[in-house]
Amino acid sequence: MIDVQNLTKRFGDTTAVDSLTFHVDEGEIFGFLGPNGAGKTTTVRMLCCLISSSGGAAKIAGFDTASDEDSLMIRKMIGFVPDNVGLYEELTAYENLELYGRLYECPTPQRQANIESYLKMLDLWEKKDRPAGGFSKGMKQKLALIRALIHDPQLLFFDEPTANLDPESTKVVRDLILELKQQGRTIFLNTHDLDEAQRICDRIGIINTKLLTINSPEQLKQSIWGSQTVIQLERIDEGLLDAVRQRHPKNFSVEGNRIIIDVDDPQKENPGYVSALIAAGGSIQSVTESNPDLEEAYLKIIKDSE
Ligand SMILES: Nc1ncnc2c1ncn2[C@@H]1O[C@H](COP(=O)(O)OP(=O)(O)O)[C@@H](O)[C@H]1O
Ligand SMILES: [Mg+2]
Repeated sequence: MIDVQNLTKRFGDTTAVDSLTFHVDEGEIFGFLGPNGAGKTTTVRMLCCLISSSGGAAKIAGFDTASDEDSLMIRKMIGFVPDNVGLYEELTAYENLELYGRLYECPTPQRQANIESYLKMLDLWEKKDRPAGGFSKGMKQKLALIRALIHDPQLLFFDEPTANLDPESTKVVRDLILELKQQGRTIFLNTHDLDEAQRICDRIGIINTKLLTINSPEQLKQSIWGSQTVIQLERIDEGLLDAVRQRHPKNFSVEGNRIIIDVDDPQKENPGYVSALIAAGGSIQSVTESNPDLEEAYLKIIKDSE
């Protein structure tokens, strides 16, 4: 659905986005995760044909973002929720949505049905005749979301869609994103919220000007840290530690009566450690797995890149 090759953007002397290469499959929720100033918004603006690139190429469903003709096709098939929502403040909520629906040449029945169902879903139907200028940040954010959905786009770009929302609205938006995926749509989600990425994304790309890694949330944790096996013993002596050493673990440590061993593949390696400890006279109380969370993995990747 999205195919990016060496995509680069410079603003004067600043390189905002440096030679990104990745693809996003149809039907997936792709999370684009990175700290402030990492280049997330710049990337999405290039993919939505709002700014030109300084190098490389990006294609959406085979259409080239650099071609004027293709970019018209791209704009019709995508929906974009920008980070600063930019509504017509003097128009009502409904009028804002109507205006966009007409701009997208969305047929009247589809336009009206979508506006009504999304306003109801996001709890704004009662407020549809009020000027958007009087709305809270969160309400404006929801309006911008609906605006991006009126023409039933197959590909959606969300630039930090829950940044201004309270927990309840955040849940509504996340559920909506999952519902859009269920309908077979593709979602590109910019976020600096790890929890959000971990909960809803199929794959996560971590960017800090350059693309640092792409993986599923689970594989991301594994690939950075591997995992650790924690063996709780009744007591520990030097003989037991020798038994562990003889199996040449990458690393291990002792905390109280627990031995914590770095393993690449717990299913293959754990039985060996357990047998060795029992053979050395150990009394094992429990064997558990300790996984670092995504946040640790993420911070380590960002730190290593700086
Ligand atoms: N229009 C612009 N002119 C100059 N620099 C810009 C412009 N837009 C973004 N930048 C710079 O590009 C970098 C990436 O910004 P941005 O894509 O907004 O990051 P993010 O969305 O990840 O927070 C930042 O250093 C930012 O200051
Ligand atoms: Mg941004």
